[in-house]
Amino acid sequence: MNKIAAIIGGGVIGGGWTARFLLAGWDVIVFDTDPQSERKISEVMKNARASAPYLIDGEMPAEGKLSFAKTLEEAVSQASWIQESVPERPDIKRVVYCQIQVACSKEALIGSSTSGFTPTELQEGASDPSQIVVTHPYNPVYLLPLVELVASPATSDEQIARAKEILSSISMKPVHIKGEIDAHVGDRLLEAVWREALWLINDDIATTDVIDDIMTHSFGLRWAQMGLFETYRVAGGEAGMRHFITQFGPALAWPWTKLMDVPELTDELIDKIASQSDAQSGAHSIRELEAIRDKNLISFLRSLKSHNWAAGAFLNEVDAARKASSNGLSDPDLTKPLALHKGRVMPDWIDYNGHMTEYRYGHVFSDATDAVLTAGGMDKNYLDKGYSFYTVETHIRHLGEMALGDEYTTTSQIILWDGKKLHLIHEMKNKDGDIVATGEHMLLHVDQNKGASALAHAPVSDGLAKLAKAHEALAIPDYSGRSVGVKK
Ligand SMILES: NC(=O)c1ccc[n+]([C@@H]2O[C@H](COP(=O)([O-])OP(=O)(O)OC[C@H]3O[C@@H](n4cnc5c(N)ncnc54)[C@H](O)[C@@H]3O)[C@@H](O)[C@H]2O)c1
Repeated sequence: MNKIAAIIGGGVIGGGWTARFLLAGWDVIVFDTDPQSERKISEVMKNARASAPYLIDGEMPAEGKLSFAKTLEEAVSQASWIQESVPERPDIKRVVYCQIQVACSKEALIGSSTSGFTPTELQEGASDPSQIVVTHPYNPVYLLPLVELVASPATSDEQIARAKEILSSISMKPVHIKGEIDAHVGDRLLEAVWREALWLINDDIATTDVIDDIMTHSFGLRWAQMGLFETYRVAGGEAGMRHFITQFGPALAWPWTKLMDVPELTDELIDKIASQSDAQSGAHSIRELEAIRDKNLISFLRSLKSHNWAAGAFLNEVDAARKASSNGLSDPDLTKPLALHKGRVMPDWIDYNGHMTEYRYGHVFSDATDAVLTAGGMDKNYLDKGYSFYTVETHIRHLGEMALGDEYTTTSQIILWDGKKLHLIHEMKNKDGDIVATGEHMLLHVDQNKGASALAHAPVSDGLAKLAKAHEALAIPDYSGRSVGVKK
């Protein structure tokens, strides 16, 4: 299977898919009937390149090649994945599938971004219904990992498995929804909230900014990390979910909401909503709002990563899988300092001087130390036994500047390993290979069960001994052992 994706319809969502595939290393061919689509996609790409790389701790794949086709047939003929993101009208979508199926490979899969239609509805009149599945993403597609995957009985298990594999390969989380219903799952939930919000505005109970404040300062924050059920379980107190249902269940029958009814979208109501929205957010262009949204999402998601929770836990799994498949770690070149760690300067690493802030150098060297320990054999199993290393002394020299997004690599040299003490030197280099900082560290192996330093055990004792033995042949850097002070 090649890594070529065709994007049919390059608007808000097609543009997001384009960025998602390109940044995952796929080549992308876009077809859109709008002559402005190339300009629009280049703006989406600008936002995506300024945000998506900061979700990844580790190496990004090389970006794929982007091209624009003059015809739909030209776009799809080579593709193994075709993502349809044309307007939400079944008649337009079905014509597009007919055109796609005349020109595409029989092995290709066609994902539809549809927010509401079922695969069976979309497949009507298709020459091969099995190729068409719903792959409903969330905006911005290049940052939010979830895709609702819905298939009709026409699609085989093998095709569904392939769809999951491809979506996973672009760091998305496909959730296979077994039943075909209008609006799948996510948009069903969202529409319920949307309807209620329209009533609140229609009835002059709240304005767009009040509703958004209520969401963003309260339950919106909860939903991003615990969803609905886990949040309510906690809200039930020690008695949990059962108590929560007993307490608030009767309210459902009163009911508090107007969900069975829809306000008529008269011109007057539309004007009211649009002018309130202008007053609330009109000071920013849509592109500015997108950039603000992306920055916030990156910070939320990075925070969830640090707690290894919800979407953050998923992103950590993506990092781990990528690391395991990259070949540098398994068989390092022992005739040189070890090149085990690389990364880029993250948005929350920047200080008021506009440069990488000083304590993040400690962070980078700590990651480099972990990489050495891993290469020496330390793993979860070893840590679970209560054995670990503590850093007891550090000396960092700052020799250059790093800015947002700058890529770096580290090299690490073992100066001493006596079975308990580990003396290490790391050098952090910029893209041009210049040393921007050095870190010299003394670590002690500890037995946490005894709360004391102790000799290391296999495999770490031997693994580090092997690395240290090889590094005996290396010259010790002249700055090793330097202390802070003015040269006389
Ligand atoms: N906007 C969202 O938040 C969102 C979220 C998830 C899914 N979706 C779904 O994604 C799909 C696209 O929505 P959107 O918001 O990106 O709409 P959009 O209007 O931004 O983009 C649609 C694009 O399709 C192009 N187009 C129209 N007819 C075409 C054709 N025959 N061939 C090729 N291109 C054609 C248009 O020029 C336009 O660029 C819809 O099915 C929608 O339900 C939207």
